[in-house]
Amino acid sequence: MALRCDLIIRDATLIDGTGAPRRRGDIGVKGDRIAAIGDLSGMSADREVMAEGHVVAPGFIDAHTHDDQAVLCGPACMLCKTSQGVTTVVVGNCGISLSPVPMAERPPAPLDSVAELSFWNFDSFAAYAERLRTEPSAVNTLALIGHMSLRVGAMGRELDRPATDKEAERMRKQLAQSLAEGAAGLSTGLFYPPSKHAPTDEVIAVAEALREHKGLYVTHMRDEADHVLDSIEETLKIGEAVGAPVIISHHKCAQPENHGRSVQTLPLIEEYAAKYPVAFDMYPYTASSTSLAARKPRPDVPVTVATSVPHPEMAGRELKDIAAEWGVGLEEAAQRLLPAGAVFHNMSEEDVRRIMSHRLSMIGSDGGPLAKHPHPRLWGTFPRVLGLYSRELGLFDLETAVHKMTGRTAQVFGIEDRGVLKEGAFADLVLFDAGTVRDRATFTEPKQPADGIVETWVNGQSVYTHAAGASDTPAGRLLQRAA
Ligand code: ZN
Ligand code: CU
Repeated sequence: MALRCDLIIRDATLIDGTGAPRRRGDIGVKGDRIAAIGDLSGMSADREVMAEGHVVAPGFIDAHTHDDQAVLCGPACMLCKTSQGVTTVVVGNCGISLSPVPMAERPPAPLDSVAELSFWNFDSFAAYAERLRTEPSAVNTLALIGHMSLRVGAMGRELDRPATDKEAERMRKQLAQSLAEGAAGLSTGLFYPPSKHAPTDEVIAVAEALREHKGLYVTHMRDEADHVLDSIEETLKIGEAVGAPVIISHHKCAQPENHGRSVQTLPLIEEYAAKYPVAFDMYPYTASSTSLAARKPRPDVPVTVATSVPHPEMAGRELKDIAAEWGVGLEEAAQRLLPAGAVFHNMSEEDVRRIMSHRLSMIGSDGGPLAKHPHPRLWGTFPRVLGLYSRELGLFDLETAVHKMTGRTAQVFGIEDRGVLKEGAFADLVLFDAGTVRDRATFTEPKQPADGIVETWVNGQSVYTHAAGASDTPAGRLLQRAA
């Protein structure tokens, strides 16, 4: 008797995530897995989708997110991701994670940017994981533990100094426990005011827990501007000291005086990569987004306010216009808006393209789902790489673009049986029109679903269609890194 599937997508252009050339065929899904690939004309299914030559690829893996709260808010909350074809998100980046440290009051910036106070109630990674299991999201989640969160647990509010040996030991133990409970690694945000006081040795002492549990070391580096090369050296030093694979977050060369320096950073990363597992993620925009307090405003870097606690009405406006309206300087205006998030137009297009097309890159959105007026990367990252950078600008072929969002990412993070189309793999899939896929989110209208993403499936279940939007199917799972 012929195998009967739950779903068959027929006559698709299959791009398998490995970087291999596309081929035409059908793909069959049974339960949560891919059951068959090829000519499935002899098979039938409960639901048949005619792809008419549109692309079927593995669902995209968002290598860098701050969706720690968003994945707890119900499946529909992830529309910003499922509408891009994203089926897995990596949370806990930039030193910030919602566990294992509960907060009784609003945590210090930038911790406060990933979750509202009522969500800071997980006293262990196990508790966070349990919540994800009982109230699943639409997408799969892989989680990192943030150094900044651990610091608040060990040092309270006294963060403007290095940790004592005892405090570092406490963080190491908490990290070890979280890794044992299923977290995938440690992230740091050494750029940020509370964590920049942590010397390299403190990070190494905490990260020591990664050795035994084979966790990843992921970092928003201390400096992505004038001292970016030193920061790459520091990152590799930390990774090597504890034997952990290294991921450099949202690699960039920030501020006008550093534009063009990716010709230095990429060869340095490559040199290390020849002897050590190193990767980096990046987003396809020339503007960054972070806490407004993180960078001193300057006239040659335009700033857009993303969110402001005392002045929510200023979200979406230019800092220089607000300053002019208030009759104050840029710095004073920024002060008055805090706590606030902002978009900084501080990168060069040439660097963005050079970094994106590098063979070690992965795509990660770094979007801020809580921002009132978010950076458009939250809704646009993946379709923008496919539409603008691959199809229109020809930076690389579609197979390479898909690889940077799927197979490569799964391999770097140790996500098994995802990120590739093969029989037996999980059925995380996206169906898209290669001729029309493109981002619609802009800096002025950032909350816009993409064009050309036809349907997205997570673990065999449909979570998004272009026609109907988000489903409320809680199809996502907590993933564990296979080291
Ligand atoms: Zn970051
Ligand atoms: Cu980030």
